[in-house]
Amino acid sequence: MEDQIKLFLSNRAWAAEKLSEDANYFENLAKDQRPEYLWIGCSDSRVPANEIIGAEPGELFVHRNVANMVVHTDLNLLSVLQYAVEFLEVKHIIVCGHTGCGGVKASLTNTDYGLLNKWLRNLKDVYRLHKDEVEAETNIDDKVNKLVEMNLIEQVGNVVKTSIVQKAWKQHKRPHVHGWVYEMETGLLKTVIDVEPGAAIDPMYEFREL
Ligand code: CO
Repeated sequence: MEDQIKLFLSNRAWAAEKLSEDANYFENLAKDQRPEYLWIGCSDSRVPANEIIGAEPGELFVHRNVANMVVHTDLNLLSVLQYAVEFLEVKHIIVCGHTGCGGVKASLTNTDYGLLNKWLRNLKDVYRLHKDEVEAETNIDDKVNKLVEMNLIEQVGNVVKTSIVQKAWKQHKRPHVHGWVYEMETGLLKTVIDVEPGAAIDPMYEFREL
């Protein structure tokens, strides 16, 4: 109960601060949203999407899951992606991973995590594809961080492979798709991969009209 009271008190203080800066702040914010960015990040509590890039409410459309995965059978992710691209018309999609990711680390072990195994299986597939690069690292932390980067390349690829993004590229020349890693130790972001609208897609994954 005390924890809950603390959260509500923080909320009251935050709302009061916003109103002291702009008396119409919430009234205006409630009208509509036109975010330019879709953020696909990890659920990790230490990587709060808005905060690390100084974004205000209304600036980011956000989806987070364990290890920032883009899984083609994930209706939650696909619904967020479709809404962001087709209705909000976002200009950029950012897939953001982070150093020391617990999900990525877990996928490098043989531990049975129960239901979570099903999710981590997607990461194990990324590991299999990039085993040489990951195994070239000598200690476990560097292996994890290498797999974090390889995973970003694969998940950005998965965004681009969707018919949602391919259609938007053809019709509207947007969005750009970015893979960033957040360095937990410094608080800084680093680009791993940038994909321009209309970039070449592996023909195996390209959708064409019948
Ligand atoms: Co993580």
